[in-house]
Parts: sequence; structure tokens; C-alpha cells
Amino acid sequence: MATATAIAHPNIALIKYWGDLIPELHIPANGSISMNLEALCTHTKVSFDQALQHDDLVLNGKSMQGEAHNRVSNFLGRVRNLAGLSLFARVESENNFPMAAGIASSASGFAALALAASKAAGLELDEAELSRLARSGSGSACRSIPSGFVEWQAGHEDHDSHAHTIASANHWDLVDCIALVDREEKPISSSVGHALARTSPLQHARVVDTPRRLDICRTAILERDFNKLAQVIELDSNLMHAVMLTSTPPLIYWQPATLSIILAVQDWREEGLPVAYTIDAGPNVHLLCPAALQEQIVSRLQNLPGVRQVLTSHPGGPAVLDKPYASSESVSPAQNQA
Ligand code: DP6
Repeated sequence: MATATAIAHPNIALIKYWGDLIPELHIPANGSISMNLEALCTHTKVSFDQALQHDDLVLNGKSMQGEAHNRVSNFLGRVRNLAGLSLFARVESENNFPMAAGIASSASGFAALALAASKAAGLELDEAELSRLARSGSGSACRSIPSGFVEWQAGHEDHDSHAHTIASANHWDLVDCIALVDREEKPISSSVGHALARTSPLQHARVVDTPRRLDICRTAILERDFNKLAQVIELDSNLMHAVMLTSTPPLIYWQPATLSIILAVQDWREEGLPVAYTIDAGPNVHLLCPAALQEQIVSRLQNLPGVRQVLTSHPGGPAVLDKPYASSESVSPAQNQA
């Protein structure tokens, strides 16, 4: 048996990925920028085992079938191809945060899976290769491989579509205060949403303008310019949700509390507080602020109607193996046969 365990953090997109150039490979229509979330993590153990007759997926203690299982099994197939391996695997994965509610659990999930599965299969992949592999499972997962503030260069094909760090996790002590308005699984997955993006008459304009927003966002991060960051991330989030609202059929992820939080953030900024919102494919709202303001923002959020819980996180590190890798655990050539 060959086993490896990895930990990865989800990321919050500051410039969003929405829509694909090549859907099967998750080659995005536009580049994106994100921040890893240190406090949230996915812990994934992968064991390739001769005794298994098929791949097994256990997610948060529950044995999974259907769509989730197929997605993971397809991904393991890609790892087997790369490694010249034919053993099935058991995947055990745990998240310390609610799944599928706008906190991309697929990002940390496939980043941790890419690292653990490739190690257990005996592959030695560098960061760009791991990022590409993670992307093939879920687009935004490629941004959970590198550390800190990360940019995904869109590319045009598998080879040139991967992510890299633009600033380390300790470059800027921002905090993401995540206002949960709903802990249920979202009704429409982002995979379905990406396919609808091209039906919106606004998507083309959003995509064409993305290099400009990427430049502003990257510069704001490098210069630690909060006002510049606030303006560009709110514009980018609004643009993505405008595309969602104008797709056929329309995608409405917001709930009434989502809009109340947006309006509150506008008021707080008018008061002079450095705080900005961004929203992924769900109703929850991510509020970015300098760490010194965390307590004040959290207590203000807790007083808003409809906010059930607030999670907080500083910028996070890269996907890592859970313990020093023991080479005796790698797949020996003799085990490479099912
Ligand atoms: C709104 O990476 O979850 O969070 O590739 O189909 O798994 P798949 O989609 P996913 O899409 C993320 C969409 C987003 C924006 C972002 O994270 O950039």
C-alpha cells in the first residue's frame, strides 16, 4: 500500500474565474487572482491499494457515490496515467468548514488531492505541474497549490494554464471575515455556472476588460494599497454577478442578507473604515480588511440580520504534505500492477 496525506487551504478569488475557454480541461476564459485562507483547510489521505476493486471516496466521514465520486475517480485516473499505475485508491478527506456555500471546498479539495495522490503514486511534480494537475480537477484548485497571494495565468492549453505566487502570505496582513448567511449546499454548482457564462451578453465585455483589472489588483497587492484593492475587487465581483444574473437561465446566488451586507459595507467605507466585499458562487459575503480591524468588522457583521456565523482567516500558505514524506511509502515498480 502507498499512502500520502496533504493539507491545502481554500482561496478567495479577488479577480474571479468565470467561464471556460476549454471546459474539459478547466482552461479559463480569463486570468484570476486570489488569497489563500489560512484558517480553513482540507486534509486528504490517499492510499493506492492492491486490495481495492474500485476507487473509494470518504468525505467528512461519509462514503460518497455519484457525481462527487466520479469526479474524484476521473482525477485519480489522470494520476494513474501520469504514473503508469493501475491500482485503485481510497481517498479520505475532511474539511474544517461548510462545503459548497461559496467557500470553494473544491479548490482546497483538489489541491490536497493532487498533492497527496501524486506523492502516493510516486510522482515528483514541481509547483507548476501540481497546479496544472489540481486545475484539471477544479479550476480554482490550481490557485490553492502556491502560497499566499496567487495569480492564475489563464493560458490557452493544459501546459500554460497554472498559478504562481505574486506575494507571500506574510506580505500583507489582511483578514477575510466571511459572513455565512447560509450553510446549505448551493443549488447550482460552479461547473454548471461556468457553462452558462457565455450565454450572458455581458461576459465578453467582462473577459476583455480582465487584464486591466488583473494589473490594478496585482499592483494594489504589491503596494499594499487598500483603497485600490477595494475598488477593483468590488467591481470584479459585481461584474461576475452581473454575468450570472444575465445568463440564460439566470443564476441568482444572492439572498436578501447578501445585499444587506453589501449595503452595510458601503456605509462603513463612507465612515472611513477600510473594508471591501467580494462574493463567489454562493450567498456568503467575504469582507477583506486590515488585520487591525478584524474585531470591529466581525462584531458589526454579527449585528446584521441574516448573518448566522462569521469565520475569519489571515492569508494562507501553500498545499503541503502532512508529514515528512517517507520514501518507503512510495509505490515500488512491483506494485504498479493491479
Ligand atoms: C466563483 O473552480 O469551483 O469561485 O472548475 O468547475 O470546479 P470548477 O469551478 P470552480 O469555480 C470557481 C468560481 C468562483 C470564482 C473563482 O474562484 O475564481
